[in-house]
Amino acid sequence: MTKEMNLEERFQAYVDGENKVEPKDWMPDKYRKTLIRQISQHAHSEVVGMLPEANWITRAPSLRRKVALLAKVQDEAGHGLYLYSAAETLAADRKDMIDDLLSGKAKYSSIFNYPTPTWADIGAIGWLVDGAAIANQVMLCRTSYGPYSRAMVKICKEESFHQRQGYEILLTLAKGTDAQKQMAQDSLNRWWWPSLMMFGPTDDLSPNSAQSMKWKIKRKSNDELRQEFIDKTVPQAEYLGLTIPDPDLKWNEERGHYDHGSIDWDEFYQVIKGNGKCNKIRMKARREAHANGEWVRKAANAYAEKQAARKAQEGSAA
Ligand code: 3HC
Repeated sequence: MTKEMNLEERFQAYVDGENKVEPKDWMPDKYRKTLIRQISQHAHSEVVGMLPEANWITRAPSLRRKVALLAKVQDEAGHGLYLYSAAETLAADRKDMIDDLLSGKAKYSSIFNYPTPTWADIGAIGWLVDGAAIANQVMLCRTSYGPYSRAMVKICKEESFHQRQGYEILLTLAKGTDAQKQMAQDSLNRWWWPSLMMFGPTDDLSPNSAQSMKWKIKRKSNDELRQEFIDKTVPQAEYLGLTIPDPDLKWNEERGHYDHGSIDWDEFYQVIKGNGKCNKIRMKARREAHANGEWVRKAANAYAEKQAARKAQEGSAA
């Protein structure tokens, strides 16, 4: 038995013993690589996710709604920075990760490539998108990589506020005028299926899941989380008096879950290939923001270098 194999077996036994893997621990290269892939793309999703909502900050219907939306968008920025830092504990380079996003090499969540034509979409994003993200992220609180699981604990607390403020927006609209209720229904029609796609392809078509489950990076499969989200969200839609746009949605007593219609996976793969409704404008916005921030990065680096030089000088003078 090679030494490397022994190490891998010991690593697997360590993870199977419900121990957290920390940055300084030995880990298989593939474990490190798949975590950098997942955590960096999670961070990209948080940062790109600010765009569809930000375009309603100046048009929020009241100061109260504006303040809540501002807080949410700021939270998402913080989640992104938190997650880039978690990826850096795996020796990922921040500049490389950002370059991979801006070049189109790295993915971000498909959900953020859909337009937000009305204020109700901001409610649907909070309720459904953050709701789906919570289902996934609560599971990730128990992921085997220590820094990632700890980052999730903080992020989940803030996501719960995001989900509630979104649901309350739709509750207000659904209990409002007929036109407002229709607006809420239209947003549910737009966001229901793309929210189910957030959980990733079906388990049989997911190339990463089996290994991620073995290493306890994932504790539940894509389909399990999707089903959990559906089961929890259907009663919430009923309370709103809105209809989920799936004629095949039906409670299955035997399964103890809702059966649902088939997801348009062609749409999913088209969107993650870059052919969604908003991929181009999202990437354009990110590239412009990055270019506009060049002077800030230069100034911050110059200041850091000056500080380091001063410390070195003081050190040699002492
Ligand atoms: N959008 C874009 N790409 C997706 C995707 C989606 N919704 N679902 C899956 N993919 C990609 C995967 O990244 C993978 O491609 P890659 O190998 O090039 O990275 C491929 O499709 C196959 O999918 P797998 O299921 O095999 O991949 P994973 O095992 O990584 O599972 C995942 C996919 C469940 C999204 C997992 O990566 C994950 O849990 N990521 C962390 C959570 C996350 O990123 N959530 C995104 C939303 S964040 C958010 O909503 C912010 C909130 O504040 C609103």
